[in-house]
Amino acid sequence: MFKEYIAKLNGAVGEERTSMVLAKSIIVISMGSNDISGSYFQSPYRRCVFDIDQYTSILINQNSKFVQELYELGARKIGVLSLGPVGCVPMQRTIGGGTQRKCVVEINDACLLYNSKLYSSIMALNATYQDARIVYLDTYTGLNAFVQYPNLFGFENGNGSCCGIANVELGPLCNSFVLKMCEDASKYVFWDSYHPTDRAYNLLTSDAIKKTIHQFI
Ligand SMILES: *[C@@H]1O[C@H](CO)[C@@H](O)[C@H](O)[C@H]1NC(C)=O
Ligand SMILES: *[C@@H]1O[C@H](CO)[C@@H](O)[C@H](O)[C@H]1NC(C)=O
Repeated sequence: MFKEYIAKLNGAVGEERTSMVLAKSIIVISMGSNDISGSYFQSPYRRCVFDIDQYTSILINQNSKFVQELYELGARKIGVLSLGPVGCVPMQRTIGGGTQRKCVVEINDACLLYNSKLYSSIMALNATYQDARIVYLDTYTGLNAFVQYPNLFGFENGNGSCCGIANVELGPLCNSFVLKMCEDASKYVFWDSYHPTDRAYNLLTSDAIKKTIHQFI
């Protein structure tokens, strides 16, 4: 998709301006949460073959290759999002959190392990590509604070989702036919069983931008 975008931009403004646009834009990527929560913890195949240390290293290796590919295509300001506390999303609480729907510690630990390896990988890439700024964007701390102390951030609910009956509903199932939909999504940290609400994303991104914008310059 990025290559398609570059081709379109080339067609519209020519090669010289295209390389300038690519070099000056902040490009933010997010990867890994479905690999950890779905491919690893919800299915037996990967777990038979890899332990979590090996699996997170494979993911980081992929992540690093992807960042390098973006660099080779002309990107120079790349932000890489950490994983959030995936063990605390409503779906994981329902599946693995017991009757009290607690956060699933094993999944959060895997995310923290991934994040610490990601941080090292990003710092190494940033040191290698002197003419680029490759920046680690922490979303774990912020989202975890919303989940643990929803009231402090103006939320009324940090453990359920606005959309859903059994808390396993995801995006496409959150439509006008769903029986249970909250009245005011901004009071919830989670929109569906996996994804934060607009308001939660807004708070997270403005905080991340405020804390890291100087690293992109
Ligand atoms: C990234 O690398 C640049 C120089 O290449 C450096 O100025 C900057 O401090 C590095 N960022 C971090 C967070 O270390
Ligand atoms: C969910 O959080 C609310 C407070 O925001 C609390 O009253 C309730 O007990 C929690 N429910 C579960 C199942 O953790």
